[in-house]
Amino acid sequence: MDQLEQPDDLIVCKLDDDRVPPSPCTVVIVGATGELTARKLIPALYQLHRANALPQPTRIIGFARKDHTLDSWRNELFDALLQHSRTKPVDRTAWDSFASSLYYCRGELSDPNAYAKLEQTISTTSDQQLAENRLFYLAIPPSQFGPVVEMLHQTGVFRRDPSPPFWNRIVIEKPFGHDLASARQLNAILTRHTHENQLFRIDHYLGKETVQNILMFRFANSIFEPIWSRQTVDYVQITLSEQAGVGNRGGYYEEAGALRDVVQNHLLQVLALVAMEPPVSLEAESVRDEKVKLLKSIRTPGPRDIVRGQYTEGAIDGRPCPAYRTEPKVNPNSNVETYVALRLQIDNWRWAGVPFYLRTGKRLPINVSEVRVQFRQTPNVLFAARCGENLDTNAIILRLQPQEGISLRFNGKVPGTSMQVRPVRMHFSYDAEFGAYTPEAYERLLLDAIDGDATLFLRRDEVEVCWAIVDRIRTLWGDSPLQQNEFYAAGTWGPPCANELLKRHNHSWRDPRPVCSDTPANP
Ligand code: BG6
Repeated sequence: MDQLEQPDDLIVCKLDDDRVPPSPCTVVIVGATGELTARKLIPALYQLHRANALPQPTRIIGFARKDHTLDSWRNELFDALLQHSRTKPVDRTAWDSFASSLYYCRGELSDPNAYAKLEQTISTTSDQQLAENRLFYLAIPPSQFGPVVEMLHQTGVFRRDPSPPFWNRIVIEKPFGHDLASARQLNAILTRHTHENQLFRIDHYLGKETVQNILMFRFANSIFEPIWSRQTVDYVQITLSEQAGVGNRGGYYEEAGALRDVVQNHLLQVLALVAMEPPVSLEAESVRDEKVKLLKSIRTPGPRDIVRGQYTEGAIDGRPCPAYRTEPKVNPNSNVETYVALRLQIDNWRWAGVPFYLRTGKRLPINVSEVRVQFRQTPNVLFAARCGENLDTNAIILRLQPQEGISLRFNGKVPGTSMQVRPVRMHFSYDAEFGAYTPEAYERLLLDAIDGDATLFLRRDEVEVCWAIVDRIRTLWGDSPLQQNEFYAAGTWGPPCANELLKRHNHSWRDPRPVCSDTPANP
């Protein structure tokens, strides 16, 4: 048998073989008693510790104003880990050794003395790398990003120019501002106290395995790139749908809405990766240059290219769901959108004329993130001439989550004596191919930040160009209240006007389905 045909003799290329192991460092979590720390950061750091992926040694210092002893903080984190760890049961021995690297420093974030205490905590070690290599993770409300970075810098805890080879970095969570002007303002404050290459702006979508795989799918294969253009693609649909409502985040959501919460970041990032040109190298700047170039080519959408919606009462999987306007901390007359659909055009050589339909919403029928590339119909002869609209077009579906995988849909003959044609599917499932191991996005992102690899983080111009797009859409909405056809019942696929948006262009939404029931009989 030919060597390549042996399934257990796959040629595996390890790209990071020459990666120098990251040097020992101190991770300071600013705002260490909040939800993000308990739900995401500590579980991710614990997993990295278990996998021996963290630098040896690594110290984690929680910095917050809550009155905790080291033991009470550790206990609180352990309880949260029991709930949120992606692997269960929690390995007590691994936790104990991980917990021994956790420290707590109490202080008001606006008090310079607190930073002096933090400095003392960081530098109380004989290991110079632990004392000098510093990663600050800002798990705090966005209004505090600027003031805290200023304090960190002015008190000397964060060093803008640490002496080489030591490094200092800051990781920031979204949202970076709430519009272009505030994002610019925030970026201006941040870069007054840091160098751009010390700033790691997180969009956790970029840490997802399947989102990282978009670049490999496109550029590590020769068969897809030639069909990835207006010559063959009819349209692209990107869906990020969630069953959950706004839950206890009503206060935040009233300020954000779906456009700022998801479109400005996750959806536009996925679009950029799906549509960008091949970068000149895999270096962070090359990849980010291409994403920015693509984002800049998005044509200003007109009023007929955008749809918003808000969920009303309904049911999902038989469970009743309240209307958005009755959720806690939501204005009973709120006009905030919980759903957005867009028809975007990309004015470049590759994509001119191919619509990219993006949509996201809360209280939609299923939890799913998916990219669907729908190809053009065959010439109107042979089967197309006979079947007309009953001959489905081909599609490549990148299922980002859950049931991660990639499907190719093409037509085939139904076995039997009659002539019937229908779509069939070739499917690659992550679970089947690699087992059920899917690291959390934060694991990868934290490790990359410690390692200084900014590829999966957002650059200043990238954030700003995304805000420019979102601002244009908000301007089109203005202050106008939601109309009747902009409401949708919880558990449905959005407001009726979202269907009109596509119908005008002879397209329709291809709603994602749970993979197992995504049978060709129901394409
Ligand atoms: C967050 C949004 O950034 O992304 C949330 O603020 C949204 O509203 C979440 O639910 C979706 O991320 P994931 O990883 O759960 O798909």
